Amino acid sequence: MLNIKAVVGAGAVVLALAVLAGCSKPSEPAADQSASSAPAAPAPEAPATADAASYGTATQPGATKIKLDIKVGPNGDAIYGDPSNGKAAFNQCATCHAKEAGVNNVGPSLHGVIGRRAGEVAGFKYSAANKGSGIVWTEQELYTYLENPQKTVPGTYMTYTGVKDPQKRADVIAFLQENTK
Ligand code: HEC
Repeated sequence: MLNIKAVVGAGAVVLALAVLAGCSKPSEPAADQSASSAPAAPAPEAPATADAASYGTATQPGATKIKLDIKVGPNGDAIYGDPSNGKAAFNQCATCHAKEAGVNNVGPSLHGVIGRRAGEVAGFKYSAANKGSGIVWTEQELYTYLENPQKTVPGTYMTYTGVKDPQKRADVIAFLQENTK
């Protein structure tokens, strides 16, 4: 009884607005169950579970996957990328970027991109935004940038909406890691 009261009480503090709106009733059966197993655990379990679910497959190592130097989710889990899946995804990039050294197209060559400072490919005319971004293209930075280039580098010349799917982004980065050295 005391435990249940404590959990419901803590929930009421965290979710004060929801309680005021009368939303506390439906959660009471769930609170009953969790009270016995984890009386001290506060509310934020739902968001953590949602994050873990969205990265679930990404964090499973597989035969052809490489562990990337990228941390995702609230627990900083490593993400794995599949270079052969990334090859297909890279076809989009390839309309503007070559992976060979010294070949600049609409975009600069991506040869040696991992670990390189932004805006340093010789002979490519970068935007001031990209050149002045101060970014070093670590795998983690690429993961952020490729989700939404315009958001990460406002004013970039890279008119590409990005790769929204986290696993697909990881796969492209795995492909870059293996093919742009
Ligand atoms: C529509 C053409 C286009 C597509 C498609 C495109 N890019 Fe780009 N990308 C550019 C341009 C142009 C720049 C130069 C940006 C600037 O100067 O602001 C750039 C810059 C970059 C940079 C920074 C390079 C540096 O030297 O600082 C990276 C990394 C990059 N792109 C990766 C990718 C990847 C990976 C993909 C595919 C997922 C991709 N791009 C798709 C046109 C494109």
